[in-house]
Amino acid sequence: MIETFRERYGETAAIRVFRAPGRVNLIGEHTDYNMGFVLPIALELACFVASADSPDGHLRVYSEEKHESREWPVADIARLRPSGDWSDYVIGVAQELIRANYRVAAKLLLIRSTVPEGSGLSSSAALEVSSALALLAGQKIEAVRLAQLCQGAEVRFVGLPVGIMDQYVSVMGRKNAALRIDCRSLESEAVELPQGIEIVAVNTMVKHALAQSAYKERTEECAAAADAIRRLEPAVQSLHDVSISLLEAAAPSMPNVIARRARHVVTENERVELFVKAARRTDVERMGQLLAESHTSLQHDYEVSCAELDFLVDTAAGMDGVLGARMTGGGFGGCTVNLLRAGLRERFQRVISEAYQERFGITPQVFDCRPSEGAGEVKNLERIPPGAALSQQT
Ligand code: GLA
Repeated sequence: MIETFRERYGETAAIRVFRAPGRVNLIGEHTDYNMGFVLPIALELACFVASADSPDGHLRVYSEEKHESREWPVADIARLRPSGDWSDYVIGVAQELIRANYRVAAKLLLIRSTVPEGSGLSSSAALEVSSALALLAGQKIEAVRLAQLCQGAEVRFVGLPVGIMDQYVSVMGRKNAALRIDCRSLESEAVELPQGIEIVAVNTMVKHALAQSAYKERTEECAAAADAIRRLEPAVQSLHDVSISLLEAAAPSMPNVIARRARHVVTENERVELFVKAARRTDVERMGQLLAESHTSLQHDYEVSCAELDFLVDTAAGMDGVLGARMTGGGFGGCTVNLLRAGLRERFQRVISEAYQERFGITPQVFDCRPSEGAGEVKNLERIPPGAALSQQT
């Protein structure tokens, strides 16, 4: 990566490399923007940003994946408008940093990512957080603040009203543990996963166009549900504060579809808590069941699944040694997350790939999801994976 950097930008002084991981969410889907609970793990798949000072007052960025470069005079960054492509994540973050009074200097950046785009494994949060670290270049920032600024870039600049889960776990992920995040207090705790299981993500390789508009619609539906419930119980700030019995009491005062959206969120928060407890007593069967219940709720109450996700979940559910499976991330494509008994991964991959190939004519990617640590500067450059350009040469 350093060689590619020098080929592109010439000999420069100190090159630093920053890494931020993608994530897979085990359970707690579409709860973060309702101030609820989530349980993601940071992945080894990650975005790497190499950076050095730029001599000419410009911010220059090159994406290896896209084979595209962009540049802007640093003095213009605060006034830029979104351009609708990958560079919005970098500029969005730069604007947030400037607004928060961090110094954003002219830099040369090279981006290499192993998080597949559109897969629901949070390639955008990985890009935001690694870019933010490169632009901060060592300026001190509190971890939660960093996550909030990166979330702000996506909400205010890219224009998607996301919650904080992806950026939070990318910053604060733990090796060997999932992270239970309370999206209201922004506190988190590590949850160690039992021995004898493997977590595997399967990529549908599709991302339906509906994803972004439906995401916004769901955030509005949840806000409408909270408004309706507040008329009955004024202390309710968000669906985080709603119990099943309160929801049942309030349901007649709202359209059925709104009540179903709320039911997903309220029951999903409960499932996160049950899953964490099951993990702590190493009850892997119960963990698997909760994944299955989560999927059913996302499929029927929240309606963010799709035929490809349902097929992967149903196929996995019918296999020996699969404890549970569900869609993960925003939905309408992307990945499923599967809980397997250890040692079955190869057979699982073969069977699920053949079935998916036969049904949809697409070979799905399968990823091992070993919990990795959160974002930071890469001190051991051997950890950087080879880029496409380099691996083509070999
Ligand atoms: C996307 C968003 C997250 C979260 C999930 C759904 O990944 O970026 O904030 O809302 O969808 O759980």
